[in-house]
Amino acid sequence: MAINWTDVQIEQIVASVMSQLKGESPAIKDEYNGAGYNGKKYIGVFEDMKDAIDAAESGYKAIRAMSLEEREKIIAVIRELCRKEAPTMARLGVDETKMGRVDHKTAKHMLVADKTPGTADIVAQVKTGDYGLTLTEMAPFGVVGSITPSTNPSETVICNSIGMIAAGNGVVFNPHPNAIATSNYAIDLVNRASAMAGGPRVLVSSVVKPTLDSANVMYKDPRIKLLVCTGGPGVVKSVLSSGKKAIGAGAGNPPVIVDDTADIRKAGKDIIDGCTFDNNLPCIAEKEVFAFASIADELIDAMRANGAYLISRSDADTLARVVLVEKTNPKTGISSKIVNRDCVGRDAKVLLEKIGISVGDEVRCIICETDFEHDFVQHELMMPILPIVRVKDIDQAIDLAVRAEHGNRHTAHMHSKNIDNLTRFARAVETTIFVKNAPSYAGIGFGGEGHTTFTIAGPTGEGITSAKSFTRLRRCVLAESFRII
Ligand code: COA
Repeated sequence: MAINWTDVQIEQIVASVMSQLKGESPAIKDEYNGAGYNGKKYIGVFEDMKDAIDAAESGYKAIRAMSLEEREKIIAVIRELCRKEAPTMARLGVDETKMGRVDHKTAKHMLVADKTPGTADIVAQVKTGDYGLTLTEMAPFGVVGSITPSTNPSETVICNSIGMIAAGNGVVFNPHPNAIATSNYAIDLVNRASAMAGGPRVLVSSVVKPTLDSANVMYKDPRIKLLVCTGGPGVVKSVLSSGKKAIGAGAGNPPVIVDDTADIRKAGKDIIDGCTFDNNLPCIAEKEVFAFASIADELIDAMRANGAYLISRSDADTLARVVLVEKTNPKTGISSKIVNRDCVGRDAKVLLEKIGISVGDEVRCIICETDFEHDFVQHELMMPILPIVRVKDIDQAIDLAVRAEHGNRHTAHMHSKNIDNLTRFARAVETTIFVKNAPSYAGIGFGGEGHTTFTIAGPTGEGITSAKSFTRLRRCVLAESFRII
């Protein structure tokens, strides 16, 4: 994975941003005139959600008056700043959320800058015939309300901004309460880019202290015509029950099947590379493996050769009691296991320390053999822990993998050279993304063809979202003319 920044460079940039965050730079204070956060003045960040919506509405009016070329100029500067400030946002994200890895988060920002589609994604359709010409155009919704997660905070803000602006919308964000500084940094970046490219000073907006209450203000405001939610199950459900047009990108639990025709050494490396990307925070990352018994030992060896640490079944049970906790729903009184927030996105080494195992920095993933019912298989952990279940054949592999995915229809992976097996699993699992013989991140354009996004809309069907997902179709009919053949 190509990382263009040295640790020293990253430290220097972060030190500079941190001092600005503390308000130590008078020049920065004078330059920024939006509402502040932590002493640093972010452009487009308001105390009140109503003010943020007003600002996004003005942004929408400004963008409506712009040509596509002008929109594209703003997007070009967003890409440029995103590349330049990737290490800063990566470090802020890790410092604020305590999740993920700076080098991988830097790479994710580069991916967003390079592979998020702009205005080229907006393509009109034409139909001509005996009765003339009909044009179908992709129009903006107006002001979009975007709910963003803590796992990929600035990446999601910038990726959504590029797509939503390309489509001609204004955007108001309600970022995850645990990633406010990082998300609002990205909102400020988009606004700086707009000003630099001759666009409005506030093109996208947000609030100083986003909560579910501020999200509710957003849901109810009649000026918000489309809601886009990337997050955990609770917040996705709240958006989908808002009564408004909504795009929902929620939980997954991506299974991987490895059969006896796969290149096992490559499969072992690819699975560990994908599973450990940003410490397993991307919702597409490998979460559990179903390996043919005949190749399971070889696969485990290949994983261990690539930074995986094998723990015993009893250590796996001990670790499960640490990384999953019981929570009782106050409304229903029903208790269930949820992931321990303090373990999500942490380094494998840190997780192992919690059960008294000390390892070096070269360990990047914890692997273990479990049965299908184990909590590690059934729960989406979002941490570098990978359970491996031995299966006897493809029928059992597909049956268990489909059940482990829990009908989320999010992402699944397979390592195989048998076209029939690959096809059978892809058909059975019905996921939005299906990656064959590659690490999971190939599914979002990292070492794979196709554009990128961090908003993978399985529940509402838009799939790998891009600018066109944030448009409404409008038809214009010209009868009895303009057919020139
Ligand atoms: N704005 C306002 N509130 C938000 C929010 C947002 N953008 N995002 C989440 N919340 C709310 C939740 O609804 C929840 O409220 P509740 O306690 O009343 O139910 C609360 O904030 C905590 O959120 P949640 O994220 O569920 O819990 P957490 O911070 O403890 O968990 C994770 C962290 C990482 C486990 C969780 O965020 C998660 O599962 N994320 C998945 C992220 C994702 O990217 N999914 C889609 C990928 S395509």
